[in-house]
Amino acid sequence: MAHILAISNQKGGVGKTTTAVNLAACLASSGHDTLLVDMDPQGNATSAVGVNSRGLTTSLYRTLIGLDTPDPIALHDRMPNLWILPSNMDLAAAELEFFDLENRERRLRSVLRSLDREFEYIILDSPPSLSLLSINTLTAADRVIVPVQAEFLALEGLSHVTATINRIRQSLNPDLQLLGIVVTMFDGRTRLAQEVIQHLGAIFGPKVFKTRLVRSVRLSEAPSHGLPIIQYEPKSAGAIAYTQFSQEVIHACEEASAWART
Ligand SMILES: Nc1ncnc2c1ncn2[C@@H]1O[C@H](COP(=O)(O)OP(=O)(O)OP(=O)(O)O)[C@@H](O)[C@H]1O
Ligand SMILES: [Mg+2]
Repeated sequence: MAHILAISNQKGGVGKTTTAVNLAACLASSGHDTLLVDMDPQGNATSAVGVNSRGLTTSLYRTLIGLDTPDPIALHDRMPNLWILPSNMDLAAAELEFFDLENRERRLRSVLRSLDREFEYIILDSPPSLSLLSINTLTAADRVIVPVQAEFLALEGLSHVTATINRIRQSLNPDLQLLGIVVTMFDGRTRLAQEVIQHLGAIFGPKVFKTRLVRSVRLSEAPSHGLPIIQYEPKSAGAIAYTQFSQEVIHACEEASAWART
């Protein structure tokens, strides 16, 4: 069964998509069959792996409302072991259309259940804000990774995130766990970044990933070339950081599974 990981934070622009895409690519490049699921109607994760959301014959939206069976697109010509369930603007309609559907919070969960024997990792890119789509994402996941920017107010945003995780755990998904918090767009030269990291450590202890996802122009350029950073600029600081982060994620997932078996 796959490890299903949601990359989630209600705050916009914190690096969710960058993290989902590059984590998925690094997991795939270390030999794990990985599925990236784009749950954001903006389709940023879809275009970041070079898939044109306008040319889709089916979409995650049609799958979620039960019109099509899930049909992940293989990205193997450029990225072995990586697949995507792409999205497009159609998904924005889901908010309205789901409303009358049975189990509207569990639509993604049931779609993934039919796929989770085919993959080792399923990485879910969440939209910002609290919506039916982000609730579906957290309901489908085993574990959550929360990207945060080391900046003023980041900690305040985190209290909303942990409250949401707790609420979902109490109602829709009792097995949901926080896998960890990862600092994105990190700039070690600023004192503020160091202070925020100290605070995070004091509150979340070992749940803060050791890898810092450094701020790098290459990481922001890569999506416009439809490539993850390990392909766009394999020797860059961003590629090294995401590779290291993916190893930490693999280790944390293995530990969590071993713990669950005891
Ligand atoms: N480590 C980084 N270094 C430089 N730029 C980055 C880094 N991580 C993300 N960015 C850039 O910051 C912007 C926001 O990142 P991203 O789209 O990943 O955030 P998001 O949380 O998915 O946003 P949204 O909430 O809109 O979905 C993008 O332009 C992205 O290229
Ligand atoms: Mg995004």
